[in-house]
Amino acid sequence: MTTFTFRTVPHIVFEDGGSERLASLAAPLLHHARRVVFITDKGVRSAGLLDAALGDFMDADIAVHVIDSVVADPPEQMVLDAAEEARRFGAQAVIGFGGGSPMDTAKIVALLLGGDQPLSEMYGVDQVRVRGLPLILVPTTAGTGSEVTNVAVLTTGATSKRGIAAPPLYAQMAVLDPGLTLGLPKHVTAATGIDAMVHAIEAYTNKRSKNPVSDALALAALKKLIPALERACADGSDRAARGDMLLGAMLAGQAFSNSPVGAVHAMAYPLGGIFHVPHGLSNSVVLPPVLKFNAVACEDLYAEIATHCGLKPGSAGLIDEMERLADAVGIERRLSQLGISHNDIPRMAEDVAANDRLLPNNPRELGYDDIVALYEDIL
Ligand SMILES: NC(=O)c1ccc[n+]([C@@H]2O[C@H](COP(=O)([O-])OP(=O)(O)OC[C@H]3O[C@@H](n4cnc5c(N)ncnc54)[C@H](O)[C@@H]3O)[C@@H](O)[C@H]2O)c1
Ligand SMILES: [Fe+2]
Repeated sequence: MTTFTFRTVPHIVFEDGGSERLASLAAPLLHHARRVVFITDKGVRSAGLLDAALGDFMDADIAVHVIDSVVADPPEQMVLDAAEEARRFGAQAVIGFGGGSPMDTAKIVALLLGGDQPLSEMYGVDQVRVRGLPLILVPTTAGTGSEVTNVAVLTTGATSKRGIAAPPLYAQMAVLDPGLTLGLPKHVTAATGIDAMVHAIEAYTNKRSKNPVSDALALAALKKLIPALERACADGSDRAARGDMLLGAMLAGQAFSNSPVGAVHAMAYPLGGIFHVPHGLSNSVVLPPVLKFNAVACEDLYAEIATHCGLKPGSAGLIDEMERLADAVGIERRLSQLGISHNDIPRMAEDVAANDRLLPNNPRELGYDDIVALYEDIL
């Protein structure tokens, strides 16, 4: 019998237009907070996505301050600066509004303002000792699932990414509004959507912590995401497809927060850390070779996904569909297209081989030589 624990965000709202009444939705969680900080980035802010939500807070007589300095793959110093700005404002609650980068930043800002533990002591698994300020997350990409995960990933030093995973990173509320994702450009829709699929696949095949709840969520996620991705890419204004993408990403987030990701993410990290390839794209590029490598160890699990999603039978059903989808939505398939060359591979492979947080989750063991061969395969 499998022993497991399962945690998630306790309050999830899925509502087209829900962000326009964010203050009303959040009211029970904010208690007596009269000063709320929004953490976002310039792209999200200039697209006007915050405007209705900010208006709703002002109507409720709650003072708001917007910090839009978040950049992709949040660097540690940027997060510390955002926390300082939020502290100067006197924030009593934090709203992360955007893709994974603003949401992850908001999680850490909430923790830093909620107690006196330094960020440097939070890295790793279950190292966080403080409870954060009340935190509400509103995703504007359908990919990371960060709105329901206990994880934040920061860029530390010049090139490496480090994760913080602990229960205090769960938000008190996630508000999913498909309307916010209508203007997401096609290429970002494609890459972030495949990231969500990778979360579900890796949660379903995690050899240490997969469990009946994460399994059900991962399958439900893929059943929504696989048919919706091409539709959302072909017509960004397709609300039903956008809604399915957002739901699928959230379900996958719940799954991998409890049954974490493996070699695809481990191999994607150096692409982001060293070459600044966006997270979703990094995962999409390394996905096919890792699926093929893993198939001998988890043929049955890939076949179960294929059957559940109505794909061709066997592991080939899943692998072929992932390759077909990447081509159909115009995702790059080769490292050379991302400016990465043969000479870069040893350094990347060393980073991956040292990843003792994610590699042990992978269904098949892989060492330095395997990693080099997998990168070479997609050069
Ligand atoms: N915490 C987790 O569980 C978790 C999981 C996976 C990835 N991540 C992290 O999340 C980050 C990646 O997040 P992401 O893929 O969502 O991208 P992102 O947040 O970095 O955003 C990418 C770009 O999309 C733009 N954008 C976002 N929403 C938009 C919209 N609706 N319309 C137009 N433009 C929009 C942003 O302005 C930005 O330029 C990475 O740092 C990654 O490591 C975290
Ligand atoms: Fe991811």
